Amino acid sequence: MPVYEYGADRRVGSSTLSLGGSPVFVAEGLFADRIVADCERAGVPGEALVLAPSAARTFARRFARDVAESRKAVPLLLRRGCGYGAAAARWCAGASRPGWCAARWRSRLPGCAPGWGAPDKSGLVLTGGMENTYENLAEFTDVDQAADPAVFVDLLQRLDAMPQTVRLRELSYARLGTGRGVDVGSGRGTVVAQLTARGLTAFGVDLSAAMVAEAERLNPGHDFRVGDAYALPAGDGELDWYHSERVYIHLDDPDRAAAEAYRVLRPGGRVVLVDLDSDAMSVATDHPRAARAVLAASSDNLANGRSGVRAADTLRAAGFVDVEVQPYSPVHTDPEVVWPLYPGPGLAIAQQTGAITAAEAEALTAEARRRGADGTFLAVPALFVVSAGKPA
Ligand SMILES: C[S@@+](CC[C@H](N)C(=O)[O-])C[C@H]1O[C@@H](n2cnc3c(N)ncnc32)[C@H](O)[C@@H]1O
Repeated sequence: MPVYEYGADRRVGSSTLSLGGSPVFVAEGLFADRIVADCERAGVPGEALVLAPSAARTFARRFARDVAESRKAVPLLLRRGCGYGAAAARWCAGASRPGWCAARWRSRLPGCAPGWGAPDKSGLVLTGGMENTYENLAEFTDVDQAADPAVFVDLLQRLDAMPQTVRLRELSYARLGTGRGVDVGSGRGTVVAQLTARGLTAFGVDLSAAMVAEAERLNPGHDFRVGDAYALPAGDGELDWYHSERVYIHLDDPDRAAAEAYRVLRPGGRVVLVDLDSDAMSVATDHPRAARAVLAASSDNLANGRSGVRAADTLRAAGFVDVEVQPYSPVHTDPEVVWPLYPGPGLAIAQQTGAITAAEAEALTAEARRRGADGTFLAVPALFVVSAGKPA
């Protein structure tokens, strides 16, 4: 191992590391990437994580630490800081190669400080080497505050392209009726564009300015507005239909959103809510107890994780009638697609609550990766298309 001297700012020697029979070790820091290839060649099992925090924040933290510990002269630290942003981008790009996992974890987990980095508890397995480039799904509640809103745009792009999504939307569009209406939580704007192509008059509303900008870029000539499901930019009884897909799962007060839907619809108008019951995903696994715990943890981390199965009650409570529930359970064989729901963020949460051990988290991660590679991964989410009418 290299011996680095802070004062000299260079390598001043080397030493031999003996694992003393320990099966694993942790190498952390800027130079950790240098030893990954050697470890792989030596057959040392391991995971490689790239933590990619904001350059400014990292510079501020490093500066405070280095000054407090008198590691280097302040002028040198300031000079370094100026070049830090570009250098950090180079390090991350260099380290983000196959087999590494770009960990973009901004934690909102119970007991964790906000900000980048792993939860403040040793031994947690966060991402386990999967290509997990997606943030915690719970951050869909406020995409603009996420470290990188583009990550969520990218996730929606992948969902849009899936045949399962196309089928799901066929089911929901068939229940809308005609006329003018709104897609609430319109994301990239695909639903607005598709409904317009079917002859409906549609506009989209999304809480995120970044999403609205992306929707406008992708769908020129369509109407998208920044707005809130709880306070829609529409008058009382103005609309013929109301559509919202995968949004109520992120709402902490779905009843209030449904009341707003009721307000903007005309008598006889149609409402369609499309959502998951994230608690009810079926997963093929050799570790059913741990998998169940992780699924529950993922679901509980969302504002309204059981939204899909709750939607009928939500609509009835708002005054809607003739409620119909159409379940839809597509088959997913690509772990990358379902990773944000399983095992994804639930791995860390379930470890924090003590529901699973670090070893179980590692086993689930390895299983998802293995099943993805050998074609045996199987996850079946429970989706619901729930439609109703405002009394005429
Ligand atoms: C999972 S995405 C679904 C996007 C789109 N409906 C789709 O299915 O592709 C959730 C969307 O809801 C938006 N959102 C979250 N909370 C919202 C709120 N209170 N009002 C309006 N939009 C909201 C997010 O910004 C995000 O674009």
